[in-house]
Amino acid sequence: MADYDVIVIGSGPGGYVCAIRCAQLGLKTACVEARDTLGGTCLNIGCIPSKALLHATEMLHEAEHNFAEMGLKGKSPSVDWKQMLAYKDKTISQNTGGIEFLFKKNKIDWLKGWGSIPEAGKVKVGDETHNARHIVIASGSEPSALKGVEVDEKTVVTSTGALELGKVPRKMVVIGAGVIGLELGSVYRRLGAEVTVVEFLDQITPTMDGEVAKQFKRMLGKQGFEFVLGAAVQSVETKGGKATVHYKLRKDDSDASLEADTVLVSTGRRPFTDKLGLDALGVELERGMIKTDDHFRTNVAGIYAIGDAIKGPMLAHKAEDEGMACAEGIAGQHPHVNYGVIPSVIYTHPEVAAVGFTEEELKEQGRAYKVGKFPFMGNARAKANFAGEGFVKLLADAETDRILGAHIIGPMAGDLIHEICVAMEFGAAAEDIARTCHAHPTYSEAVREAALACGDGAIHV
Ligand code: FAD
Ligand code: NAI
Repeated sequence: MADYDVIVIGSGPGGYVCAIRCAQLGLKTACVEARDTLGGTCLNIGCIPSKALLHATEMLHEAEHNFAEMGLKGKSPSVDWKQMLAYKDKTISQNTGGIEFLFKKNKIDWLKGWGSIPEAGKVKVGDETHNARHIVIASGSEPSALKGVEVDEKTVVTSTGALELGKVPRKMVVIGAGVIGLELGSVYRRLGAEVTVVEFLDQITPTMDGEVAKQFKRMLGKQGFEFVLGAAVQSVETKGGKATVHYKLRKDDSDASLEADTVLVSTGRRPFTDKLGLDALGVELERGMIKTDDHFRTNVAGIYAIGDAIKGPMLAHKAEDEGMACAEGIAGQHPHVNYGVIPSVIYTHPEVAAVGFTEEELKEQGRAYKVGKFPFMGNARAKANFAGEGFVKLLADAETDRILGAHIIGPMAGDLIHEICVAMEFGAAAEDIARTCHAHPTYSEAVREAALACGDGAIHV
């Protein structure tokens, strides 16, 4: 048994960042983690492994499609799936090992095992109970279940199983056209699988700016994705390592089915709060999420919650920001998370990135806005790099020119978006970006051109 200022439960991006910040601020800190390695969903079975597989398969796509035109002739690489998985696993362990190093460096104790909270001020891990003045729950999330669909993580998988399939499937059905489905669907499509995405709504990535979502669907279609939209999955049958997905088309209630070697269920995630003992403690939940105030405090004094376990987008960087702010609040500082400027990125090819409001949201608010758009076809660097598809779209207030949102589909969109995030944090106008000199030839020039398009006009269109 030990006494701590803070015990954080969960070592994902929310938990480990919170623990490190607490330690940096002089608080005696421990972090409870039940997994064999630190880093949570993100490092072990989420962001990092999926990006490793996306990177490897994007390299394959480059080699197959663009090398010859650049004068790089020869046989395309063949796929050694086992080696690709080994590369992914090495990437995971490099990153999880990195967090272990940071914990040692910051003198944070890793309490190994499942943590529960028998009463405020106490955390039980195995047979040991530790005292803590403050307890931060960062227990993350898990895949949502889908009625009629039983996951076995072999034939019918969640993202976890999809990151370590025994072989590349010939036919894959993805249920849900959200972030996981399109990222992991891209991995297997590039490896040669026939990928059909079945989505309940009539558009893919439903929260995305409508114009971007349409273009995104077109581009994925060109890559060979098939889409069945407006379809409610009824059940999935499995037999002899194959699956049949039964669905109903919502427009006419007709029944249809699809055969697959692998079915990926990616219809959202839900907060994971089992085993903590929250019921007995009286910690309030709201639609499965731990209810918190603006300072991440639950209704029980001394207990806080952050990340996927609470409201807001289920994103690693949102969890990290909350982890840092929660730690600073515990240390007596006055931090603030600006939820209006949290970027979201889909790491497909091309990438799709967004921050702030969509055009649909601005219309709904009845706000007068202007649109500055610039196609990557007008960007010299993008053309040279076979990346001329897509565009940057900037939304600014019609009167004040203040930037209200940005939506990018194109090369390095996930990096380009941050220039706009910083501008929005500073309350900048589109003209501020338009008047900032941007190096040539870079993809970033497309952001500037979109800003120019909010004023007197872009140059290269
Ligand atoms: P988690 O990362 O879920 O960590 C929670 C940890 O707490 C887990 O390790 C769990 O074992 C542990 N835990 C829970 N309860 C207990 C307990 N009682 N005792 C001990 N330990 C406990 N987000 C992005 O921003 N970018 C991406 O590219 C991205 N890609 C993703 C890809 C996939 C396939 C998935 C599934 C998710 C992805 N996400 C991505 C989402 C991101 O992983 C989550 O938003 C993020 O991990 C949430 O962090 P967290 O700290 O709240 O919780
Ligand atoms: P999602 O919320 O992104 O997408 C789920 C999709 O499934 C939606 O389009 C929804 O309309 C559809 N759907 C829901 N029920 C359905 C049903 N019964 N039949 C057919 N379609 C149905 O969820 P996803 O892809 O599972 O990802 C979960 C979360 O993980 C994301 O919301 C995101 O927060 C995080 N994530 C983030 C990534 C990133 O930042 N690049 C990558 C992967 C995951």
